[in-house]
Amino acid sequence: MKEFNIAVMHGDGIGVEIVNASLEVLEKIGEKYNVKFNTKNALLGGAAIDATGIPLPEETIKICKESDAVILGSVGGPKWDSLPGAKRPEKALLGIREALGLYANLRPAKVYEALKDACPLKDSIVNEGVDLLVVRELTGGIYFGERGRVKKDVDSAYDTESYDVNEIKRIAHVAFKSARQRRGKVTLVDKANVLESSRLWREVVNEIHKEYTDVELEFMYVDNAAMQLVRKPSQFDVVLTNNIFGDILSDEASMITGSIGMLPSASVREDSFGMYEPIHGSAPDIAGKDIANPLAQILSVAMMLRYSLDMKEAAEDIERAVEKVLKDGYRTADIYAEGMKKVGTKEMGELVVSKL
Ligand code: IPM
Ligand code: MG
Repeated sequence: MKEFNIAVMHGDGIGVEIVNASLEVLEKIGEKYNVKFNTKNALLGGAAIDATGIPLPEETIKICKESDAVILGSVGGPKWDSLPGAKRPEKALLGIREALGLYANLRPAKVYEALKDACPLKDSIVNEGVDLLVVRELTGGIYFGERGRVKKDVDSAYDTESYDVNEIKRIAHVAFKSARQRRGKVTLVDKANVLESSRLWREVVNEIHKEYTDVELEFMYVDNAAMQLVRKPSQFDVVLTNNIFGDILSDEASMITGSIGMLPSASVREDSFGMYEPIHGSAPDIAGKDIANPLAQILSVAMMLRYSLDMKEAAEDIERAVEKVLKDGYRTADIYAEGMKKVGTKEMGELVVSKL
């Protein structure tokens, strides 16, 4: 029997419930496809602070490195908000991405047929189809650049956006390769009319594009992209962008799909290893109430099967199961509409399992 080692970090807030729901799905996949998943829990974020005093313990990095893939819920919450920057749960998230070298973040956003009504855009816009992939650079840029405070007559603070050619090259390859598997178009989103780093991105991406002449490449300023996403989302296939623009635009894209509770993500590198987490946060206000939507987490597990474990069929199986459950009218509170059947986190997970 095939075996895989999976590191599991529930994290904080709703992370705990939604990861548990997704593990039920993984277990069912194991039975159905005759694969053994050895899961090992690791602490990250607030949970790690409470248990060990630091947000990213060495032990966690070790467990992740010894695994074939990592499942992550979400981190953060008001309990740890007053801690200084370097000790916050979010720091652990950036730290683990960096420690594992996961420079490419894939965030697919598509509107499910059954959820069309949850999309806040006009029917005439949605009907053209929304199916895009944000390829976000994840271990560079302003998130990791030099930052600090300067004390002069007036106190000031700075953060630095900086990229080198190699960082841009490798993420560009990911975007072009992804486009080949999709509709063959890459839009590089930047602010090249103002930022020098953006101008370097354009040069490098243009250069790499020569190896992918079958893929169409276009450039778009980020302010325009934010507008075009709601004006005509169907024009986008792969959106390639830096760390911070990717953070912002993927939230915007998620809202177009109806709920941020639906969007999975994969953080990957050259080899098959990856970390899989929903794009949403820990939603502390609804944590522990069994009302959070586990579908983004469940769909993240599907991405793990596809990208890290070479189990494409099983991934599609999960995606189909999710579609069926939605089609049958089951909804968690965030995507609930009149006439539908409202279910909680656990039940939603069980429903997906029942369709596998
Ligand atoms: C995300 C989140 C994180 C990010 C935060 C929690 C640090 O917003 O994964 O999009 O900005 O990368
Ligand atoms: Mg974000």
